[in-house]
Amino acid sequence: MSPADSLHPTLTAEGKRGGRRLAVLTAYDYPGARLLEEAGIDWVLVGDSLGMVVLGYPDTTHVTLGDMLHHTAAAARGLSHTPLIADLPIGTYDTPEAAVQNAQALLAAGAHGVKIEGGTSHRAQLEALTLAGIPVMGHIGMLPQSVLLEGGYRIKGKTADASDALLADALALTAAGVFAIVLELVHPAAAKRITESVPVPTIGIGSGTHCDGQVLVTHDLTGAFPWFRPKFATAKASVGDAIRSAAAQFAAEVRSLEK
Ligand code: KIV
Repeated sequence: MSPADSLHPTLTAEGKRGGRRLAVLTAYDYPGARLLEEAGIDWVLVGDSLGMVVLGYPDTTHVTLGDMLHHTAAAARGLSHTPLIADLPIGTYDTPEAAVQNAQALLAAGAHGVKIEGGTSHRAQLEALTLAGIPVMGHIGMLPQSVLLEGGYRIKGKTADASDALLADALALTAAGVFAIVLELVHPAAAKRITESVPVPTIGIGSGTHCDGQVLVTHDLTGAFPWFRPKFATAKASVGDAIRSAAAQFAAEVRSLEK
């Protein structure tokens, strides 16, 4: 599939979409994606959070392109019309050439666009991707792929200088032609300032209520990863408890069967 074939009508740098708030969630497989589409979610993201909530790694730095291709293809089979965005995992966009080649592989697996982490530091990769006709979502603020370098997940943009640097990143992203920008763990005042300064939607996660949309890891929303949930996410279901209970009932029934 060529990038032009994969272009989804809503993944263009067309602006703020009339002010409508965008609800974005992650999916990593067929039922996960299909359920989100049936719920009317605007965009589905195959995030590299895959590494933590599905593959059992401590962070996203273990995720490979092969992992992302496998799960992107599964999620794509669950969608008929919802845009699907896939993360380029760590080490797959170190050069502009690698970024384009690996993004094309994700599009061939069924994604309509890709997401990469970084702002001005990744200007060359961002420009190469958009020049190749590949819809790109930016991601600034806390960058999970850098968690080992940073030593933890901390709020970004608290000081005036830090807020200025994030705004410069956001403007570099929009100049490169991204269709949206994820703001992760950005101080709400900085997130508001960026949202008011860029022409494309900002999609917040742990960044307050002023963004143009919100994204969550679906497992945090549904309680499907009950051993850890970030403070900013509220679980609206207890899927983990429901699975434990169903499994325990099944085990009890099996053990009580007469031979
Ligand atoms: O990997 C992911 O799921 C993400 C979102 C949380 C933004 O990048």
